[in-house]
Amino acid sequence: MNIERTARKLLQENSRETAGYHYTVPSADHYPYQWLWDSCFHAIILARFDAEAAQNEIKALLSKQFENGMVPHIIYWTPGILHLFSWGVEGTSTLTQPPMIAYAAWDVHRHHPDTTFLRAVFPALSAYYRFLLSARDPHKHHLVSIINPDESGEDNSPRFDAPLGASPRIQLKDHLAKRKELVEKNRVCNFDAENCMRDFFWVKDVLFNTVLVENLRALARIAAELKHPEYEREFNAEAETVAGAMREFMFEDGVYWPVMGSDLEKLKVATWGHFAPLFAGLYTPEEAEKVVRDHLTNPETFYAPHGIRTTSMQEEAYRADAEDFSWRGSVWMAPHWFIYHGLKRYGFTKEAEDIRNKSIELIKHSGFRECFNPETGEGFGAHGFTWGALVLDMMDRS
Ligand code: GLC
Repeated sequence: MNIERTARKLLQENSRETAGYHYTVPSADHYPYQWLWDSCFHAIILARFDAEAAQNEIKALLSKQFENGMVPHIIYWTPGILHLFSWGVEGTSTLTQPPMIAYAAWDVHRHHPDTTFLRAVFPALSAYYRFLLSARDPHKHHLVSIINPDESGEDNSPRFDAPLGASPRIQLKDHLAKRKELVEKNRVCNFDAENCMRDFFWVKDVLFNTVLVENLRALARIAAELKHPEYEREFNAEAETVAGAMREFMFEDGVYWPVMGSDLEKLKVATWGHFAPLFAGLYTPEEAEKVVRDHLTNPETFYAPHGIRTTSMQEEAYRADAEDFSWRGSVWMAPHWFIYHGLKRYGFTKEAEDIRNKSIELIKHSGFRECFNPETGEGFGAHGFTWGALVLDMMDRS
C-alpha cells in the first residue's frame, strides 16, 4: 500500500460541502459530521498538499462559534441519527474538545504563508481561548476544566471513572448514558456550565491543559505575525501561567495527573496522559528521560507490540480485546502523533521513529481503522477513519 496516496484519497472521499462550507468527516459511515480536534488534524494533514482545503476546514469549524466564544465539538451540518450531544442548541453539540485550532491554523500558515487567512481567523481564535481561560477557570487556578469526558477527546478513558461514578468494568452503553446525563444537567441550567457543572463533572485534564499551553503559544506566534505585540505578550504569558499551574497542582511521582474538585484531588489512573506534557515541553529533560524509561518503554504498562496503550496494562480498567473498550487500552493514532512530536522535541529520535514505524505498520496491516488492539494490531471501530493520515505528518517531519 502506498500510504501517502491512500491517505490523500481518503481525505478526499471524506470531504464534504454544506451551505458553502468545506470540511472533512472523520469516517463516512461512523462519524458523518465535523468534529473539532479531528478537523484540526485534517488541517494539519491537508496543509501539506492542499492549503485551501486546510484553511477551509478551520473556517468551517469556527463558523458555528457560540456568542461566548466556545467552539462546539460537533457540527451537525446535515440532519441524521447521530445527534448524541446536541440538546438545546440548533445544529451543534454543547461541548468543546481539546483546543488544537490555533496550532492547526499556525501549521497551515507555516506550510503556506498567508496573513489574510490568519487575520480572518485571529478574532475567533482569540475569543475561543479567552473563553476557555475565563469561563472554564472562574476561580483562577490557571487550569481550565472540562465538563464532560467527551471534551477530553477520550470519551471513555478510565481517568474519568471516579468523577463520573463509573466502575473500572463499566460497559460502553452505561458509560454513554452517564455522559448524556451530564449534558442533560447542563441543559437544565441553560448551559451555564460554570455555575452548575462543578457539582457534577469539573475536571482539569492533563491533555486538555497541555494542548491549551501549546496552542496559546501558537496563538502568540499568530499575533506576532499579525504585528500585535500586546496580544503576543498576553497569550505567551497565559501559556506560561497555565504551564506553571500544571506543575504546581498536577505533578507528582514524576508524572502529571488530572485533578478535580475544590481541593484539586489527583485522579490517579495511569493513562497515556502521562506522555501528553512532552508535547508542550512540560517535563525537564531529566524528568522526560525517566518518563520514557519507566513508563513509555515499559512493556508491563504502556509499551505494546503494536504501539502505546492508551491505558496502562496494570489498571483494572485495561481492555485490549474488544471494540467496546476503545480508550481503555486501544492504540489510537492521535495519541501516537502527540507522543511522536513530544519525543522529537526532547531528542528521543529512536523512540519517536519506533512509534512512527508502528503506526505505519498498523495501517498497512489493518487499514485506516478507528483504533487498534495493542497486543495483536487488529483494527477496531470505524473504517475509513482519517486519523491514520496523521502518519503523513510524522513521515514528513522525521
Ligand atoms: C470518537 C473519539 C473522539 C473523536 C470522534 C470523532 O468519539 O473518541 O476523540 O473526536 O470519535 O472522530
